[in-house]
Amino acid sequence: MTTAQTKALTEMFLKDRLMQIYKDSEIAESCHQALLEVVDRRRVERTGELKQLDAYRVANPDWHCSNRLMAYSAYVDRFAGSLKGVSARIPHLKSMGVNYLHLLPFLKMRPGQSDGGFAVEDFLQVEPRLGTNQDLLDLTRELRTHGISLCSDLVLNHVSDTHAWAQAARLGDKEAQGMFYWVDNNQRLNFENYLPQIFPQTAPGNFVWIEEVQKFVWSTFYNYQWDLNYSNPKVLIAMADTLLALANLGVEAFRLDSAAFLWKREGTNCMNHAECHWILQCLRAVVDLAAPGVLLKAEAIVPTAELPPYFGLGEAQGRECHLAYQSSMMAASWYCLANQDASLLNRMIAELPAMSPDTTWISYIRCHDDIGWNVLKPELNAEQHQQLVFASQFFSGSAPGSYAEGVSFQASDQTAVHGTNGMLSDLVGWRDEKDEQGFARYQLLMSLVFASAGIPMIYMGDELAQGNNSAEPGSSRDWVDSRDLHRPKLDETALALAHDESAYLNGNSRSAKALHCIQALRTLQATHLTAENTSALKLLQSSGNHPGVLAFQNGEVVCVFNFSAQKASCSLRAGKRLYTDLLNPGQSVDCSDGLELQPWQTCWLLPQQTPVSMASSTEPHLSRSEV
Ligand code: GLC
Repeated sequence: MTTAQTKALTEMFLKDRLMQIYKDSEIAESCHQALLEVVDRRRVERTGELKQLDAYRVANPDWHCSNRLMAYSAYVDRFAGSLKGVSARIPHLKSMGVNYLHLLPFLKMRPGQSDGGFAVEDFLQVEPRLGTNQDLLDLTRELRTHGISLCSDLVLNHVSDTHAWAQAARLGDKEAQGMFYWVDNNQRLNFENYLPQIFPQTAPGNFVWIEEVQKFVWSTFYNYQWDLNYSNPKVLIAMADTLLALANLGVEAFRLDSAAFLWKREGTNCMNHAECHWILQCLRAVVDLAAPGVLLKAEAIVPTAELPPYFGLGEAQGRECHLAYQSSMMAASWYCLANQDASLLNRMIAELPAMSPDTTWISYIRCHDDIGWNVLKPELNAEQHQQLVFASQFFSGSAPGSYAEGVSFQASDQTAVHGTNGMLSDLVGWRDEKDEQGFARYQLLMSLVFASAGIPMIYMGDELAQGNNSAEPGSSRDWVDSRDLHRPKLDETALALAHDESAYLNGNSRSAKALHCIQALRTLQATHLTAENTSALKLLQSSGNHPGVLAFQNGEVVCVFNFSAQKASCSLRAGKRLYTDLLNPGQSVDCSDGLELQPWQTCWLLPQQTPVSMASSTEPHLSRSEV
């Protein structure tokens, strides 16, 4: 197909989706025209360097799949002070093989409380505390010379109550009011009957009374975050323009925050509606037309069955988001660890649908948010629901015998299942460098992240096994909820020790051990794991396996995880008998009579006929051919 044909098809696809959303040909037509004008204006603005990147990626549409990328997610201020400070962290990122950096919101945010920057006051200006637009441009260029793509949040669902639209709306400006949802008390109550509570303790309800307007405005999250009204095409046009403006500052990927909430319909939970997908497909079409090198990543923390549609379904397959968070597998990994039973993960992997080759998951075990347990509820029967309650109690440290030091999030009583907060090392109870069992649990979860054939993502500080935030609640930027427990500043001492080879060799630094673990996993992943997607993993289930065991093949490598605190045996049935254990370089394993695993042990086994290149504990040698 020629470029002109592809362009024409994409424009038609866009028009079709607008028609589906607005159901009115005049509105769809004028929105189409407006979006094409945005596309033309922003395409002209795009620099030669970015256009070159676009051209490479159009020719290699799976450039971000098949183990090529590794992600790291961080708050700018806590990671490096400012955008300028991020430059100084590039060697650290490269030492892990990171080539996709997600910086949490850095655009001008609401003064005072801002939900960590997710209440955006101005999408086109960098938060002055963190730098300037020029700093952003400089940083994206510098990262690119090192082969690192910058990902920014695009908070699609809401704006701050201090955003110009909200301020004008309060003053009675009808056009600005049209950017939001307003309801009276009866409508509010009708909606509330069906809506979930995201922050039931700190922001109960989904609406806020606005005195000046004498109505309630929709506000799913904090009451200073006002939901945008996508049934008004002006919202979509403005957000598409914002996306492309930021892309022209060098942002190469967007995390589409709260993507599931974009469409409201009475009598429903107002999540995952078809219109949400059509809106995302419109954004994808706009990106394909103006900045096709840019990636879209869905942040949809929703049950497993609702996730694949974010990649598009049917004729839209591959024309919605390129990436999506695998939040179900993340939560399931914790559930399995607490219950010492891997059946849920086995089942989830077996049921994952095949995916288009240019889409993939973000695999992760921690992020800046809580571990949200709700995504698992539809998967579980009554007995398993009790196990979910147990998992949430276990990681908040309240279950007998728990090694974890997290806290419950937004749960009003001991039996409520909502979320759990805490840094990885405190959740797995890895006490110190001598604590082998704690390390085994850390390695188990991290190695699953790397083995599961998505883009592995590390959350800031976990690569140093940094513990929970020890700052006093209230002393930090906006410690308004317990998610700040896992938002500490990067520990400079731990960072220096982690890169000190002698500290690693002496075995007296937990951060050095953690960093080496990640470096080795990344090298092994890039060298040996070839499954192009999570759905291409081959499960090795056997009736003889201990219930705590998860075993699958990623390419040639057999990855085995023991989620239980007991020794566990497992029959591999993979046809080969002698393997090299990649995580213990130099060790051969004879699996003729099955494999015996220590508590929480992980093995990555490579059949011995294949030439083995051992895990190196030094800097991974990765290349990205486009740079
Ligand atoms: C997303 C963010 C979370 C934030 C919420 C509201 O879920 O990850 O941190 O509180 O959106 O913007």
